[in-house]
Amino acid sequence: MTAHAIIGGTGLTELDGLKISDARQIDTPYGPTSSPILMGNYAGHELLFLARHGHPHRIPPHEVNYRANLWALRQAGADQIIAVNAVGAISPDLSTGDFCVPDQIIDYTSGRKHTFFEGYLEQVTHIDFSYPYDALLRKRLIAAAAAQGFACKNSGTYGCTQGPRLETVAEIRRLERDGCDVVGMTGMPEAALARELGLAYACLALVVNPAAGKGDGVITMHQIEQAVRIGMDKTRKVLARLLAA
Ligand code: HPA
Repeated sequence: MTAHAIIGGTGLTELDGLKISDARQIDTPYGPTSSPILMGNYAGHELLFLARHGHPHRIPPHEVNYRANLWALRQAGADQIIAVNAVGAISPDLSTGDFCVPDQIIDYTSGRKHTFFEGYLEQVTHIDFSYPYDALLRKRLIAAAAAQGFACKNSGTYGCTQGPRLETVAEIRRLERDGCDVVGMTGMPEAALARELGLAYACLALVVNPAAGKGDGVITMHQIEQAVRIGMDKTRKVLARLLAA
């Protein structure tokens, strides 16, 4: 039995169409989750949903309690985690409104609680993280986006910055030299924590702006908010399609 969970990012603090049967605030050894875990039925399928930034949207990327969120989702029975993340585009292959299902991550964050394996341990534990995302779940996301006819880059490197500010042009040039295709603030440590817990995890990244220096002029919040609004509608369709397949 597999159970899917969505971690909704910016613009997806609730999942329209989710028929909620229960909302559980789960206590974790790591403190409170960003929001209660919603349990319900979406497009005819059982689904768990957690709003990464809280509902309403109030927790910035560097203050999200990623450990509590992942721990609670596992506690609630989830074993397939689909993370929805708004990102800026670095790759010329990507435009606002497109999806990317990344296959690699580079972590540029600092000071986040990034592991369960600390404190008084019986033994030091290292996880393999060569391929940070679950291959099968990625395939299913790619197939669902294609079935909807949405533009989707089927691989790529997600550069995760600390935020909450956006990047400088020079920082984006550096990320580009490093091989990043998209930039966001919430991909890590979430992906690594999921791996530590043995959960299948993949990311559906929605491009909401060209990264700094990649578009005309500066990035405005108005531009991002508009792209989020349009894009999250498409995101919901991809998720419904994935669950139905
Ligand atoms: N940079 C970092 N995070 C983001 C961006 C960006 O340009 N757009 C959406 N999330």
